[in-house]
Amino acid sequence: MQLLDGKLISSQIKSEIKAEVEKWIADGGKKPHLAAVLVGQDGASETYVASKIRSCEEIGFTSTLLRFGPEISEESLLDAVESLNNDPDVDGFIVQLPLPKHISENTIMEAVNPAKDVDGFHPVNVGKMCKGLPSYISATPFGIIEMLIRAGIETSGKHCVVIGRSQIVGLPMSILMQRNEYPGNCTVTITHSKTHNLKEICQTADILIAALGRPEFVTADYVKEGAVVIDVGISRVADASKKSGFAIKGDVNFNDVAPKTSYITPVPGGVGLMTICGLLTNTFKAAKKEIYR
Ligand code: GUN
Repeated sequence: MQLLDGKLISSQIKSEIKAEVEKWIADGGKKPHLAAVLVGQDGASETYVASKIRSCEEIGFTSTLLRFGPEISEESLLDAVESLNNDPDVDGFIVQLPLPKHISENTIMEAVNPAKDVDGFHPVNVGKMCKGLPSYISATPFGIIEMLIRAGIETSGKHCVVIGRSQIVGLPMSILMQRNEYPGNCTVTITHSKTHNLKEICQTADILIAALGRPEFVTADYVKEGAVVIDVGISRVADASKKSGFAIKGDVNFNDVAPKTSYITPVPGGVGLMTICGLLTNTFKAAKKEIYR
């Protein structure tokens, strides 16, 4: 079993981007600028956004954090999105999800200028990805793809089973893994809460991507000997022994599953840390106008 070490790979990618940004700026390019919009006081969102802002500073980007209370109206949030769309200094921005129930996430995502949609959530960017055109690949799929590449994991002809059909992980992963390029060329099965015989299907996976959001759901009996197991889950589970009062658990029971695998991602320290690299890569592409002129 080999560990796919998100801490190591993400720090390598960040160093690479940092060096490229230095060169870009030395050659007269504009310092990339990411803005993040945070609505309400969700604990997990606070942590994620703080870490996105910190990473920007580390690698030489400008960052801006816009905070709004949970009572903000959809209209006012749309106004904020519009001003970021029109701000020539902001190369890309994200609106951290989830949003309060009274705001439609789809309405907000569709209001973001696709050229600045560094989350890759706008239908135009999703559509471009599906057609295999240059686009912003969203953060978690980017992180997974990059881990497969850097470990040199063979994917062609393999059976990839994705558990979960979310818009931000399961669906795009299923599209990317079937593309006619590396990593891809998999036979993909996408499974969800209504799937019959989930365990039997998972047992046939060469590459198993667990993105269902249920802590330690995948146990050894779901996994074929020698499979590659990618754990996308990050659930907070009450744990009185921790200072924070919670432990972070993946969707895979690591201790049970790891001995059967060829490669596995840990939680924490796996895919989660990689996601920021996707956001930074997209923001740099936005600053360079690589995808939209
Ligand atoms: N919430 C959970 N993951 C993400 C993400 O990648 N982007 C945004 N904007 N919100 C999220």
